[in-house]
This record gives sequence, C-alpha cells and structure tokens, in this order.
Amino acid sequence: EKQGFRHYMLKEIYEQPAVVRSSLDTYINLNWHADENPDYSPVNIGLTPDMTDNLEHIQIVACGTSWHAALVGKYLLEQVAGIPTTVDYASEFRYSPKPVIPNTLTIGVTQSGETADTIAALESERARRVNLDPKYHARLLAITNRAESTIAQICDCIIDTQAGIEIGVAATKTFVAQTMGFYFLALDLAYRRQAVSNQRISEIVEGLRQIPSQIETILDTQADAIEELAHHFTNETEDFIFIGRGINFPIALEGALKLKEISYIHAEAYPAGEMKHGPIALLDNKVPVVAVAMPGSVYDKVISNAQEAKARDARLIGVTTAMNATEAGHTFDDILTVPEVDEIVSPVLAVVPLQILSYHIAAIKGLDVDQPRNLAKSVTVE
Ligand code: F6R
Repeated sequence: EKQGFRHYMLKEIYEQPAVVRSSLDTYINLNWHADENPDYSPVNIGLTPDMTDNLEHIQIVACGTSWHAALVGKYLLEQVAGIPTTVDYASEFRYSPKPVIPNTLTIGVTQSGETADTIAALESERARRVNLDPKYHARLLAITNRAESTIAQICDCIIDTQAGIEIGVAATKTFVAQTMGFYFLALDLAYRRQAVSNQRISEIVEGLRQIPSQIETILDTQADAIEELAHHFTNETEDFIFIGRGINFPIALEGALKLKEISYIHAEAYPAGEMKHGPIALLDNKVPVVAVAMPGSVYDKVISNAQEAKARDARLIGVTTAMNATEAGHTFDDILTVPEVDEIVSPVLAVVPLQILSYHIAAIKGLDVDQPRNLAKSVTVE
C-alpha cells in the first residue's frame, strides 16, 4: 500500500507531481491561445453563470491546512481576478455573522469534505440569505478532493481537486491540489471579467504547466540534503519561526503547521515584516528561522527581514531559487533550492521542501508521522 515508502505522508508528498498533472489535464483548456483572442475560458471548471455573474465579493471558509490554501486563493482572487475576498476560519465564521453583501460567492475548502465547522459555516450562510432578495442568495462552491462528501452535496458546484484520498493525517497533496483549484478559479474569473490580459493569463497557465516537473526536480535533487539538514533539529530544538510575505506568507504558515503537527516542535509563522513588531524578541541561537524567499515583488524585503533575524544569531534557512542561491548564500546558513518560477505560481513549489523537512524531523525522532497524537484525519465534531 505504501509502495515502498516508509510512511503514507512521504508517499503522498511524492504523488504531488501526478496530482498536479491530473488537475491540469482535467481543467486547463489546451486549445486556448492568448493571441487568438478565444471567446471561451482558458479553464473548464464548469461554473455556471449564476455562480459567477456580477460577483462583487468572495468569502472563503476553511480550517487548518485548507485555510492556508484559502489564503493563497485570496491573493489570487484579488490580484489576478480583482475580486475582494475574505478568508475566515470556519469555526469563527459560523458564530460571527458578517454584514450580508450581495452577489457573493462563498467557498468551502476541505480535504475530507466532512469537517463539521466548515459544513456548519456553509449551511448557516445559505440559511441566513434564503429569504432575502435573490441577489443576496448564497452561491456555494466546494473545493475538495471528495466529490461524494457532505460538503460536495450541500454546495451548488464543486471543483474536484483530483488529489484522491489522502491517508497521512498531515495534509500534503490535498493542499497542493486545493491551491491548484484556486489558480483555476482565479484564471476563469479573471478571463470572464477581463481583469488581466490574455497574455498574462497565458503566462500563468504556462507557469502552472511547469509545476509537476519542477516538483519532481525538488524531490530528485533536494530530498537527501533536506533529510541531512533535518538531523540538526531533532534533539534540542524546541521552537521554529517561519517567515514569508505576500503570496508566500501562507506557505510560512503551512510550513509551521506541518512541523508542529508531526514533530511536536513549537513553530510560529509571521509575515516577515511583522517580526520587528514583537516576535523578533524570541530569537537567539536556539531558534531556527525559515524564510520563504522566492524571487519576485517582495524578495528584497524578505531578505532584509531575514538578515535582521540573523543579526540575533538565529540559524537561518532559506527557501529560494537556484539562481538566487549564490547571492542568498551570504544571508542563509542553509538553502532549500527550488526551480526558477514566476512568483505568482511559486507557493506550489515553495511548500514542498517544507513538507519534506517536517517529515524528516518527525521520522528521525521516531514519531508516528501518519497518525500524530491528538489528531484525526476528518474532524467531524465541533
Ligand atoms: C493539516 C490538517 C488539518 C486539516 C483541517 C481541515 O495537516 O490535516 O489542519 O487541514 O482539519 O481539514 P479538512 O481539509 O478535511 O476540512
């Protein structure tokens, strides 16, 4: 069943190229070419006009890792499709009624499709809008790999992420697949609303099409070095800090969550620019800092935030591209290298070395990676 892998989590990390390939095959319209000014969408997610027409606002509810995918989604929906988007923890949303905005799309993101809080958040959203003017009615979309789940049934539409069932409790391939789901949605909406040029849409699609082989490159070239690095953190390390900015801040959050879930090492993530507003007080030579420093609009900012951490003697680990590795080498003690990539698609690559790092730290510690203490794969109680 584990096909030679020691744990399901590792097997699922290695399934990611195939999962991304399958989602691209399912949703990307191969005949679409920007310069032919096509009159149909670059992606086929099958959303009906009543889901997407006149959209003024998108609200996303999710928990845990799915909430992190939603944060990447927010960035895409705002920056690519130009639609104001909010992201809430489902457990908060259900008890914190918000002013009702018309023409709102509500998205539930969930790997299991059975998370009690996410179900309740979506159901309460439907219920409170049902007696209002039709433009206020709920439009519910599920992003999930479980097409037969409760969430899929209560929503009007679903994007099936093609990840299949995940067995390791720590979500890996489902996160990457959910994030891909947001790229498809953002591209579809961007096209319909002409929020960005067809040329830009084409560039993003091209970037996505490189992802499977780029993840393979990370798995082929980095896995051993990351395992080696993991040995440094298996004895005395009690705390980790992860930093990132922009579209990669959610990747810092996800790196920290993976680490705490399976290695039981305390980890926090901050937007890199927030460090000086408090968390930097935690730093010394016992607290490693992982900086997600992908080239792009905030690269220089992340590097200078990382240097501030280094000045406090923190061991600094950078996730960056090969091209930047030499320059980054002056800043970072260790580098987890990922292939060259457009910033907009970089989260899908940047998360992979962090999954591998958490995996090895936990595995070397001899912990039950697939079934961490106190956690369940499907949280069906409040
Ligand atoms: C993280 C993890 C949890 C889940 C969360 C939501 O590795 O497994 O944080 O992401 O419980 O679960 P789903 O996606 O099933 O709604």
